[in-house]
Amino acid sequence: MTSTTSTSAIYPVTWQADAAVLIDQTRIPAELTTVRIEDYETMARAIETMIVRGAPAIGVAAAYGMYLGARALTTSERAEFLRQLAAIAQRLRATRPTAVNLFWAVERMVQAAHAVDGPVEQIKHHLLETAQAIQTDDLRTCELIGQHGLQVLPTQPERLRILTHCNAGALATAGYGTALGVVRAAWAAGRLERVFADETRPRLQGAKLTAWECVQEGIPVTIITDNMAAHCMQQGMVDAVVVGADRIAANGDTANKIGTYSVALAAKAHHIPFFVAAPLSTIDFSLIDGRQIPIEQRHPSEIYQVGDAQLCPDGAEFYNPAFDVTPAELIAAVVTEFGAIAPADLQSTLAAKQGKR
Ligand code: MRU
Repeated sequence: MTSTTSTSAIYPVTWQADAAVLIDQTRIPAELTTVRIEDYETMARAIETMIVRGAPAIGVAAAYGMYLGARALTTSERAEFLRQLAAIAQRLRATRPTAVNLFWAVERMVQAAHAVDGPVEQIKHHLLETAQAIQTDDLRTCELIGQHGLQVLPTQPERLRILTHCNAGALATAGYGTALGVVRAAWAAGRLERVFADETRPRLQGAKLTAWECVQEGIPVTIITDNMAAHCMQQGMVDAVVVGADRIAANGDTANKIGTYSVALAAKAHHIPFFVAAPLSTIDFSLIDGRQIPIEQRHPSEIYQVGDAQLCPDGAEFYNPAFDVTPAELIAAVVTEFGAIAPADLQSTLAAKQGKR
């Protein structure tokens, strides 16, 4: 495999001077600011309010949240410590329901705590090390996803026009990104002409975050409103679609940001390959198919309000699911850190590897 890894200097969750530091993603692109998080309840609220968002980034943030909660516990009695840690885990799990990386990371932290048979201070130390490992592993994972994605992109034309939905970039991971990791790898390899970024109503992660990441690195990006994607495909303006995922069921059905399903349908109609780029930690083998994936419902104000301006008449009602499920048959491959895999082969190829992590 050729080495074309590029870097991104965007790290949404870092550990600095005894605190977790988050890029405040609600402020981008207006300003790049950070918030210091010193306790787990503040971390839980940061996840709920989407200061940190994107499935792998939520997992990393929750892992640090677990450590922050553990650090503040005063008991030195192991059983009592583990009991109180379980309550902290429950608070963090309750923040957002769809991205399985959150549950995966919290579970990994719970297991890390139970694995230490020593004093509470030793458990706390191990929890910080585990959170840091989750962060650094995810960064490496994203770089591998980028490399594997590059191998399965269409070979023609030489320089591709890639459409993506929402933000599956450095901001949504420990850094580098999943879908945007593939984009970054393609850019570094001279195989990218431009990114089409769906704006991604209602929260505009595509227009605000994906476009911002591309602009930071000089990657040409064209923002389109969500309802323009099919038209762009029909006009021959798109060569491939690459999106991220919040939870993938065992059969390959994939939950991602609302609107992903309609992009996949349009891609199928125009014979454009549709790829999902996601780490193994996003695959939930306990779910047979996508019908069992819990879909987060968010506040209607995300639809009826932009800033202080009200867009809709009083008296209307709203429906605001944050994610939808793309059926596996619309997905050409799931690009993981272990390679690009047909959805039907996910379980046979990856279940054993998941058990070993
Ligand atoms: O609601 P968000 O912004 O957390 O949703 C994010 C997405 O849907 C991303 O596409 C997904 O988490 C993949 S991130 C690598």
